[in-house]
Parts: sequence; C-alpha cells; structure tokens
Amino acid sequence: MELQIGDIQETALITLAIRASETARSNARIKDYLAKEIIDTLGVEFSQYDHFMSHEGVVARTIMYKNQLQELIDQYPDALCVNLGCGFDDKFVQVDNGQIMWYDVDLPDILSIRRKVCKDRERCVMKEGSALESDWTKGLPQRSTNIIVMEGVLEYFTKEQVETCLNILCDSFEHGYLLAELHHPILGRNTKHHDSVKYTNAEFHWGTKSGREYLELEPRMSLISERSYNEEMKKYSFRAKLFAFFLPFLNNRLAVYKW
Ligand SMILES: C[S@@+](CC[C@H](N)C(=O)[O-])C[C@H]1O[C@@H](n2cnc3c(N)ncnc32)[C@H](O)[C@@H]1O
Repeated sequence: MELQIGDIQETALITLAIRASETARSNARIKDYLAKEIIDTLGVEFSQYDHFMSHEGVVARTIMYKNQLQELIDQYPDALCVNLGCGFDDKFVQVDNGQIMWYDVDLPDILSIRRKVCKDRERCVMKEGSALESDWTKGLPQRSTNIIVMEGVLEYFTKEQVETCLNILCDSFEHGYLLAELHHPILGRNTKHHDSVKYTNAEFHWGTKSGREYLELEPRMSLISERSYNEEMKKYSFRAKLFAFFLPFLNNRLAVYKW
C-alpha cells in the first residue's frame, strides 16, 4: 500500500516500525501491540526505517517518557494529557490509571491512517490539530493540571515554529507540564547522517545545547529537568555505552517544563 502523508509525518513510520519490531522480540523491553496491529493492517514494507541506533533511541525514549509521565500522573491523577504529534504511539495504555483524560493529536493525514485501526476510547480521544495552530485546544475538558507530551516532534521545527508552539501551550492552558524531546544543533544540521530519518524527506531544524534556550522563547515556562537518552540507552549495548562516553552531548534529551 502507498501511504499519502507529508514529509515530517513519514517519520512516524520510523517509531512505528521500531516499536512493532521490538514488541515481536522474545526479550522485548517495551510492548506496543497497537504498533504491531497497524503494521499488519497497512501491509507496508517498514524495514528501511528500523536501524540500530534509532531502534535503541526509540526504545530508550519510550521507557523514559513512560516513567516521567507516570511520575506526573501519580501527582495529578485526574490530569488532562495530550500527546501532541502522537503519530501511531499508544502511550495511554502504558499509563492509564482509570481517571486521566487523554487526547491523541496529530495532523489529519496521520490520524486518518490511525483511525483505520484505532477507535476512540472512553477517556482516550483522537483530535486533528497542528502544534502550530491553537484550534485543537478549544473545548477540551478542564482538569487539575495539563500534561503535554511532545516526543520526536520539536526537532523538525524552526526556532520560530518552536516559539509559536510554546506560546500556544501557555496561552491555551493556564497551568501545565511539557515533556519535550530536544536535540543538539549538530543533529539539526545533519539529517543526512541520521541512520533512519535520512531515508525520509523530513529534515531536522533548530536544536539546542541546553533546555534553558526554550525559556527565552517562552518566559512563562520553567525548566524542571533535562536528561539525556544516554541514561537509558547505555544500559543495553556496548555501542550505546561508547556513544555516551565519547559524544555525551549529541544524544537527544527529555526535558520537562512547567508553567
Ligand atoms: C517522529 S514522529 C513522532 C510520533 C510520536 N510522537 C512517536 O514518538 O512515535 C513526528 C510526528 O510529528 C507530527 N507532526 C509534525 N508536524 C506537526 C504539527 N505541526 N502538529 C502536530 N503534529 C505534527 C507528525 O505527523 C508525526 O506524527
């Protein structure tokens, strides 16, 4: 099947392919049954997207995002959670406590594919929207706090687009947390050297050396924590250990902001 999707949207196939192939392993570190179901339903060849360092990075970040999200949900058990740029990721099942309200938001072409396999659930709803426009934020239920998850999305935005997105979040939600994936400026200039993204037409853009650089774009936010994916990746392979030792700054990071 030929999928008609935009350039950045195609990168959602990378994480989909990796989570499905990891789930199929006998010693799987993460389980994502929706990913496997989507791949089986679409019948598309995905092997070009699943390469070693990307695989390890996606597994690591999936674990780190889950743990971080779990910690926040323990503090705010009835939070409103939004996976902004959700792609085909099914985080809701990993952290559902029976109370949270969850929205999976992405561009219409991605959600039209997602809807072929996935139906809205009682507290987990899909909503078409762009991180660069505020329409999707209207009419959401009020909860004690808001947790916005952006995994593998902001790397594809220019500095101006990151600023627009951060401003929309602070204008639309009175209080909240943002879980953001950050990347180094060197990666921002080197999409062609990334082992999986180089096979797509997507390009990385503005990167940061520190999560504090976001605060200049949106002073209402404060930086709570910033951790490299090396923390998790180096547990599993010698190559990741070497990478973490020689180029510690180069891996992506999970940053948590509060406003
Ligand atoms: C690398 S994928 C990550 C998907 C998912 N977060 C994950 O970790 O599997 C990037 C995602 O960002 C989405 N995206 C790109 N631009 C967007 C925008 N302006 N608004 C919302 N989502 C966007 C793409 O459609 C795609 O699903």
